[in-house]
Amino acid sequence: MRDVAVIGYGMTKFGELWQTPLRDLFAEAAVACLADAGVERGRLQSAYIGCMSSGLFNGQEHLASILCDYAGLAGLAATRVESACASGGAAFRAAYLEVASGASDFVLAGGVEKMNDGADATYCLSTAADQEYEVYHGITFPGLYAMIAHAHMHRYGTTPAQLAAVAVKNHRNGALNPYAQFPVEITPETVLKAVRVAEPLGLFDCSPVTDGAACVLLCPVDVARELGKPVIRVIGSGHATDAIALHDRPDLAAIPVVGLAARRAYAQAGITVADVDFCEVHDCFTIAEIVCTEELGLFERGRGGPAALDGLTARDGKHPVNASGGLKCKGHPVGATGVAQIAELVMQLSGRAGARQLKSPRIGLAQNMGGSGGSCTVHILEVGS
Ligand code: COA
Repeated sequence: MRDVAVIGYGMTKFGELWQTPLRDLFAEAAVACLADAGVERGRLQSAYIGCMSSGLFNGQEHLASILCDYAGLAGLAATRVESACASGGAAFRAAYLEVASGASDFVLAGGVEKMNDGADATYCLSTAADQEYEVYHGITFPGLYAMIAHAHMHRYGTTPAQLAAVAVKNHRNGALNPYAQFPVEITPETVLKAVRVAEPLGLFDCSPVTDGAACVLLCPVDVARELGKPVIRVIGSGHATDAIALHDRPDLAAIPVVGLAARRAYAQAGITVADVDFCEVHDCFTIAEIVCTEELGLFERGRGGPAALDGLTARDGKHPVNASGGLKCKGHPVGATGVAQIAELVMQLSGRAGARQLKSPRIGLAQNMGGSGGSCTVHILEVGS
């Protein structure tokens, strides 16, 4: 396996982008990514593009071909990758493996989703849950995570104030992110008094419905050096799947696929969680950030809620989580999210995160999850020479 670096990123602003068609979203991110990397499009050898459900959201399949053609990349070996909300992370892993294997030198990892296009977003998203045993009975994603929240509260005493602390912190960070859908600060009272979506989760416990795209460019580390790029190396790539129905898993208060993917990534990187300087975590709902920080090993089981309330996950805390604003504030265009997380790692590790820049981070981790924990990727990037 060759050492692999990420040498450029490009993103659209996230939000309700009614005027921007699906293909334009991808083209904008891809063109920006190649410009950032300083690599001619003719040098690209392949692309992997994460997208959960363009067929349902936009009536468009055969996605990789139409996106690459429109972005001026016709002829490229390009593949769409689907793993629900972890599609972007899975696309990044495929691109990483292709460069690491020696098969290609320049590979684009992209992600795109246009969720505001007239389709019923709640229905489209629910196709990532178990149709026969969950969706048929009326459950939605807020409902599934509400059950996880209830279990966590029952088992560990997690409180609504702790859930709210996650949203408040992520909005504080995202207010500094020009790509964010809702770049505004909020108070705990706003979260706690908001309209209920699925008790105990209110409007501000939920990630929004978002349009957006993100791309990053990968190449071998020695090629990155020749190009004079800062070396942001992929040191760990973990991927795992699990049963997608909550009742098929032994513990409602846990999401074991996250721990499994994380342990694989830590093992490859030869590090422990103590070596990680900051994380982008899949906070599709506030309870998800709490459980995922526990699964990643940042906190013991049941301590994720108190840690959020005590500021341990703030930008100036011991374990900064979601300096970008996370899915909650930045937005969650499901197929693009995993790649946008990698883009945030690149911005932070290269000192280009602007007002939300962390202090000289060296190792960053991105955790991207499908559905209520049916799939997960964990990637660890390190800046060095
Ligand atoms: N956070 C903060 N504000 C939000 C928001 C969110 N998640 N979602 C919508 N808003 C705002 C809108 O901007 C709008 O504000 P305005 O009245 O000032 O314009 C207002 O709230 C109502 O927006 P609307 O689009 O009508 O909300 P909705 O009721 O249709 O949807 C949710 C709200 C929470 C149900 C929806 O965002 C949702 O389903 N989120 C979860 C997505 C999901 O499951 N993703 C996959 C995870 S696995």
